[in-house]
Amino acid sequence: MEVDGTTRLVGIIGWPVAHSLSPAMHNTAFAALGLNWAYVPLPVPPGAVEDALRGLKALGFAGANVTIPHKEAVIPYLDEVTPAARAMGAVNTLLVRRENGTTRLVGDNTDAIGFLEDLRAAGFDPAGRRCLVLGAGGGARAVVYALAQAGAHVTLHNRTPRRAQALVQALIPHLPGASLTALPADVRLTDLDLAPFDLLVNATPVGMWPHPEASPWPDEAPL
Ligand SMILES: NC(=O)c1ccc[n+]([C@@H]2O[C@H](COP(=O)([O-])OP(=O)(O)OC[C@H]3O[C@@H](n4cnc5c(N)ncnc54)[C@H](OP(=O)(O)O)[C@@H]3O)[C@@H](O)[C@H]2O)c1
Repeated sequence: MEVDGTTRLVGIIGWPVAHSLSPAMHNTAFAALGLNWAYVPLPVPPGAVEDALRGLKALGFAGANVTIPHKEAVIPYLDEVTPAARAMGAVNTLLVRRENGTTRLVGDNTDAIGFLEDLRAAGFDPAGRRCLVLGAGGGARAVVYALAQAGAHVTLHNRTPRRAQALVQALIPHLPGASLTALPADVRLTDLDLAPFDLLVNATPVGMWPHPEASPWPDEAPL
C-alpha cells in the first residue's frame, strides 16, 4: 500500500482496537480494487468519543467503522442517524458528508442489510416467509429487524423469554405493520412444531469458536 497526498482515509474506532482484523481486510480490498484508500485502527478511550468524532471531520476522514464499546456512545454526537441504526440503537458505520461547505456525520448500522444480502445470495427471499429467530441480544435485534423489514413473519424465542418480549416491544415502533411476535414464555423449543417455518436463525453466541459443534437447539427436539 502506498500512501500519498491524495489517499482517502477511513478507520475503525474502538477500545481496544489493536486486535481488529478490519484494517487488514479493508486494505486488502482497497488494493484489489485499485483504490487509493487507507484503513487505520483508531484507538479511542471512553470519554474521548466526542473529540474523536470532531477529529474525523477535521482531519478529512471519509468515514469510519465503530466497534465495542462505542456503538451506542457515538449516537449523541452525530448530525444524522439512519432509521436502521435508530432501530438497532447502535451505530457501526460513520459517513462523513461534505456538502455546500458543511460537514455532517451520519451514523448507520450495516448488520441488518449484511445479514439480508447474505440470505438473498444464498437464494432465500424472506418476503412472506415464516422465520424463527433464537436469541434476544444485539445480533438477534439486527436479524429480526432485517427479516421483518423485508416482509417476513418473524417469531422470536429466547432462553429468557421476557428479553424476547422486550425486544419485540422495542422494535415494533420502528417497523409499522410488521409481523413480529415473541413466543409465549411457557412454550419450550421441544414442544414447538417447526413445520410452518421456512427459516431458523441462531442469533445466540452458541456454536461460536472454540465450540462450533454446540447448538442452542435441544438435542431431543426434532429438526
Ligand atoms: N451484537 C451485534 O451487533 C452482532 C453483530 C453481528 C454478529 N453478532 C453475533 O451474534 C451472536 C450473538 O451476539 P449478541 O451480541 O446478540 O450477544 P448477546 O447480546 O450477549 O445475546 C446473546 C443471546 O443469546 C442467548 N444465549 C446465550 N447463551 C445461550 C445458550 N447457551 N442457550 C440459549 N441461548 C443462549 C442469550 O439468552 P439470554 O437472554 O437468556 O441470556 C441472548 O439472548 C454472536 O455470535 C455475535 O458474534 C452480533
